[in-house]
Amino acid sequence: MPVATMLLDKNFTIGKTHPRLFGAFAEHLGRCIYGGLFEPGHPTADDRGFRGDVLALVRELGPTIIRYPGGNFVSGYNWEDGVGPVEERPRRLELAWMSTETNRFGTNEFIDWCRAAEVEPMLAVNLGTRNGDAARNLVEYCNHPSGTYWSDLRRAHGWERPHGVKFWCLGNEMDGPWQMEAKTATEYGRIATEAAKLMRLVDPSIELAACGSSSRRMSTFGAWEQTVLEHTFDHVDYISLHTYLNNYADDTAAFLASPDLMDSFIEEVVAIADAVAAKRRSSKRIMMSFDEWNVWYRTRRGTEARVKPGWPVAPPILEEIYSMKDALAFGGAVLALLNHADRVRCACLAQLVNAIAPIMTETGGSAWRQTIFFPFAQMSRYGRGHVLRTQLASPTYDTRYYDPQSGNDLYFPIQGVPYVKASAVYDPDRHALNLFVLNRHLEEEIALTVSARGFAELEVEQAEELRDDDLDAVNSKEQPDRIKPGRLDGISIAKDTVRMSLAPASWNVIRLHAE
Ligand code: AHR
Repeated sequence: MPVATMLLDKNFTIGKTHPRLFGAFAEHLGRCIYGGLFEPGHPTADDRGFRGDVLALVRELGPTIIRYPGGNFVSGYNWEDGVGPVEERPRRLELAWMSTETNRFGTNEFIDWCRAAEVEPMLAVNLGTRNGDAARNLVEYCNHPSGTYWSDLRRAHGWERPHGVKFWCLGNEMDGPWQMEAKTATEYGRIATEAAKLMRLVDPSIELAACGSSSRRMSTFGAWEQTVLEHTFDHVDYISLHTYLNNYADDTAAFLASPDLMDSFIEEVVAIADAVAAKRRSSKRIMMSFDEWNVWYRTRRGTEARVKPGWPVAPPILEEIYSMKDALAFGGAVLALLNHADRVRCACLAQLVNAIAPIMTETGGSAWRQTIFFPFAQMSRYGRGHVLRTQLASPTYDTRYYDPQSGNDLYFPIQGVPYVKASAVYDPDRHALNLFVLNRHLEEEIALTVSARGFAELEVEQAEELRDDDLDAVNSKEQPDRIKPGRLDGISIAKDTVRMSLAPASWNVIRLHAE
């Protein structure tokens, strides 16, 4: 059996996980809002139309902050369409996903839904077809108490108290040619700066995220971040990162290695942000907002991703069905985020319900958990605390990851991929040391020895594994519990050393009581 070792020390930390690291994303896209969060008439819906079964699953999933209303959608959105009397709201052609937007759900409904779900709202403003003027009006509508046109309009609409939205995204993926009114880095840098200034004049307490590249494979990646931050550095707190892992090549080993490119991506953007700071002799540190991440490929290209003419309302698009294999790659992404807790202060799983989502619903029917639900719920529940530096020694493999739309660079070689990828989070208040461990070996069990220096009286509180002999197995309406975590047995502890055996192709979460 191959062996791996992990060394950690109670006092050697990377950083404390910020609660916003465990966020998600809800876009006006397919059935995410309509038929997902919001379905008046559904047997579990309340008088506002919020599906109770979805709310219960969201609470179990444990996201802390939700990004809204897009995504690509926001670049053509007039926020004023979604407030005020519902019967007066316009129906619009929605050009990002080629559907009809009824505007029955808008900003105020979203805030109410966030309160019901006990999550923080995050709003994105339209810097595609609109600019700083619409953005500052939205900040005034949401956050100003009263006595002005926009704040009094909110009150007249029935929301007396300000929404107090703290986290704002300055547009979405403005580097992407598919984006409505995409921009060059200089154009975007200027517009984002001016929008940020206006928004902060209205409410100085808000936090702002500038758009980074829409993926690491964009030909403008790097130069985009540099130029955008040269413009926005003094006006923003975060730069965004987006990644969707894929298995187009049907190469499981490469797919499971791909989260390591997220590690590289984060480190590269941090380096660029700090280089911009260095040129200014500034001690300010721009933080990373990884505000779209997930696995997504089956419904990404081809006919499903963009709806045919007919302009349907809430069509079932991007309804990716996640397999066991996808949950493993997803777990790898969780590890990349946890292990950069010092600089990734916000992250959003894209998305929440139905569209590339951990929660699926049937319109008028039931709701269930996809395979990726579990690593996220575990990350949110057990990832609170200090991420410890881990020194891993594991057998490795070399692979090539196929990532299309990258010009000539379709294959990314990844050398020396450790079969074991892991993260350790220590919460002194709860006396908890939580280990998150992925075994990427597809055939072999791996014997892992963890030396937890500085810890005494370690005891297993709970140990779970997510695995299945069939890596293509999925959950469905008919079999909602086909894939779910099971017990991981056989863990032994001697003083500060923990030994376990990791099943091939498995995601493991070991919770230790630790003093
Ligand atoms: O999450 C789906 C889409 O992916 C978002 O709308 C966009 O920002 C990204 O390209």
